[in-house]
Amino acid sequence: MNVLVLGSGGREHALVWKISQSPLVNKLYCGPGNPGTASLAHNLEIDPCNFEAVKQAVMDYALSMVVVGPEEPLVRGIADYFSSEEALKDCFLVGPGARGAQLEGSKDFAKAFMRRHGIPTAGYASFTQEQTAEAVDYLTRHKPPYVLKADGLAAGKGVVILSDLQEAKEEIRAILGGKFGDAGNTVVIEEFLEGIELSFFFITDGTSYQILPHAKDYKRIGVGDTGLNTGGMGAVSPVPFADEAFMKKVEERIIGPTVAGLASEEIDYKGFVFVGIMNCGGDPYVIEYNVRMGDPETEVVMPRLRSDLLELLDALAKGKLVDASVEASPKGAVSVMLVSGGYPQEYAQGYPVTGLDQVADALVFHAGTREEEGVIRTKGGRVLAVTGLHADLREARSQAYRALSGIRFKDVYYRTDIGLDVI
Ligand code: AMP
Ligand code: GLY
Repeated sequence: MNVLVLGSGGREHALVWKISQSPLVNKLYCGPGNPGTASLAHNLEIDPCNFEAVKQAVMDYALSMVVVGPEEPLVRGIADYFSSEEALKDCFLVGPGARGAQLEGSKDFAKAFMRRHGIPTAGYASFTQEQTAEAVDYLTRHKPPYVLKADGLAAGKGVVILSDLQEAKEEIRAILGGKFGDAGNTVVIEEFLEGIELSFFFITDGTSYQILPHAKDYKRIGVGDTGLNTGGMGAVSPVPFADEAFMKKVEERIIGPTVAGLASEEIDYKGFVFVGIMNCGGDPYVIEYNVRMGDPETEVVMPRLRSDLLELLDALAKGKLVDASVEASPKGAVSVMLVSGGYPQEYAQGYPVTGLDQVADALVFHAGTREEEGVIRTKGGRVLAVTGLHADLREARSQAYRALSGIRFKDVYYRTDIGLDVI
């Protein structure tokens, strides 16, 4: 099979790394990819949201599968585009149609979906711009902390949690007033859930599913999970407290009903589902759906996946997912993100990265790098994800930290406590 992975981050490098190990792969491409994917696949200069360009690549390289990494092309309808184009009818696209992608693209849609199907999630109310006064009134009738969410995609910045009523009122007015553009035309106000958040992943064809290894990601910039929210500073898999009993609840109360809900609403969905779940005193509640894999979770999930990912996706394409199975390695994985100093606020780019060739017993996934005359340079906030994999999660953690200590670029920053809370 000739396969194209769309995207350019650490998640895509991990997907390419995994798919490249499959005996089913003939030629592997990544668009636009990064220097990490270039070592395993042919990078193509494609913008994943330029559907015409993706179509051209499918024809030029005789692709039989396209795996979509990020959410944006999915929310914009790349899967629907594939179904509507005659020239693409023999190429399978991994990812839901625009309607299914609303699970991530619209928080209001996701909440209403969960309400319709009895899936446990925080209580909520939605308000449009015209209902700003009602939204403010709603806040005064509820207790802090206030969880305010812009309905649409807001580059991971659309969730604001405030404990001061006055600030929350101002924030509601700002969001409905256009702070996040059209993404904030509707706002969801949610009950605050107390607990530990985990990331669960499954592949579905809209009627059956196969569960992938789960993970925990570390969202804040600072040690002890303090400071500003980021795209993710590290991840660990598995999470010891997500035991069999908890997994059973997640499957029975969330994964099963989600897939049954997709089927009953006839939503075309063939792809990954990522469910962010809060463990509230042993009971799982959905925080959010994403219609793609997580980043940096993929950098620990793929190393732990023993099954052939391409074989699973091929089963998905052929309507045989129900007969497939997923085998996870008993080994644990810990991934630490090296980021540019200043991230998630302003940071400089273009610094040379050294020491990459010295890494021995860890995996290095490129997230924000570029190559220039043989030199790898920083390009972006999150630069590299360094993953250790070992039977003992503690040793996996040590491997990652040992490996990253030899990698250098100016103003590099990373959290020193990834995995400590669960080991
Ligand atoms: P998101 O951008 O949707 O990933 O949300 C950002 C973060 O806000 C999540 O990872 C949670 O940690 C937190 N969060 C979202 N919804 C809630 C909620 N209802 N209760 C508590 N924390 C939440
Ligand atoms: N790590 C969270 C995300 O990918 O959205």
